[in-house]
Amino acid sequence: MTDKKPVQIRMSDYPATGNARDIWRVTHDSLRPVEDGEVLVRLDYISIDPGMRGWITNKRSYMPPVKPGGVMRAFGVGEIVESRATGLAVGDQVTGFTGVQTHGVFKQENLRKVGIPGVPPHTFLSGLGMTGYTGYFGMTDIGQPKEGETVVVSAASGAVGSIAAQIAKLAGARVVGIAGGPDKCSYLIDELGLDAAIDYKKGDISAALNANCPDGIDLYFDNVGGDILSAVLNQMNYQGRIVVCGGISQYGDFASAAGPANFMTVVTHSLSMRGFTMRDYMHRVPEALDWLVPAWKERRIKFREHIVEGIENFPNAFDMIFDGKNHGKLLLKLG
Ligand SMILES: NC(=O)c1ccc[n+]([C@@H]2O[C@H](COP(=O)([O-])OP(=O)(O)OC[C@H]3O[C@@H](n4cnc5c(N)ncnc54)[C@H](OP(=O)(O)O)[C@@H]3O)[C@@H](O)[C@H]2O)c1
Repeated sequence: MTDKKPVQIRMSDYPATGNARDIWRVTHDSLRPVEDGEVLVRLDYISIDPGMRGWITNKRSYMPPVKPGGVMRAFGVGEIVESRATGLAVGDQVTGFTGVQTHGVFKQENLRKVGIPGVPPHTFLSGLGMTGYTGYFGMTDIGQPKEGETVVVSAASGAVGSIAAQIAKLAGARVVGIAGGPDKCSYLIDELGLDAAIDYKKGDISAALNANCPDGIDLYFDNVGGDILSAVLNQMNYQGRIVVCGGISQYGDFASAAGPANFMTVVTHSLSMRGFTMRDYMHRVPEALDWLVPAWKERRIKFREHIVEGIENFPNAFDMIFDGKNHGKLLLKLG
């Protein structure tokens, strides 16, 4: 058992507006006993993801919404402190849908053991975790960038976007990243080695795309939707491809996100547009790790993490990701 009082963050109800500030409750409920086939985990890090906005929206989606009163859903990583499971031992590092809580009792089949020598466990929530796999499969499997093509990536300095952009660059494409603010744009050029960066907060995104993509756009990796997607659609080349990874600009009203008004460009330019979630690729995670781990160790790809400390800061961290205040994969360090 644990000597510390467990802490949970619960969703009291679905947010009535785009602002989710008032829905979070802190509880200190005791843990249930560990049964056969289960383990008790002390969580060390929680992943803060834009997709959480969908999980607290009462609408049919790729996963059921969090139930009012329930512990907020999240990926986490931590250490097993008690085990009644044959495949997992005390001291093992595990990841899975742990929820936003300091401790939890889980069935062993709902956890995945992590542990690659020289790799800190929380890395399996960032570049070597779901966001890394998302950038990897979205770009390699769906986008399939080719040498000489022009590839545009939005939210390019973020967790998923930075991986996707670097993969396109390694494939020999000319890569243009879109991000908010001069710091993030400098990071795209100076650290990630992209060919151009567009600060969408500076104004005319269409003019900036026109100036930075003189040969048009062959492939767009979309993380944001909204006005940026509309502007990109107008400059797509014939038979261009759009990978729809996310639409964070529309998450304030997740249940009725607006589509682009110039949608007919998909017809007139024979575009293909394909969405996905990581659910489609869970069976191929080892393949992503086989590529990502050596690429990261050999510094062929980079990623950065933005760590907020303390479970009580979950509401702040949740808001940060929608305000663009995170610089890299946003993680909540517990304890
Ligand atoms: N399909 C999947 O399976 C899957 C899995 C994981 C994530 N995703 C999606 O991938 C996208 C990126 O997620 P992430 O985890 O990598 O987060 P992230 O990029 O690390 O952080 C989100 C970033 O989005 C940008 N942003 C926020 N509001 C915006 C707006 N109104 N317009 C334009 N940009 C805005 C901000 O960067 P700026 O400062 O640059 O604006 C913010 O830092 C999200 O859409 C997410 O839902 C999809």
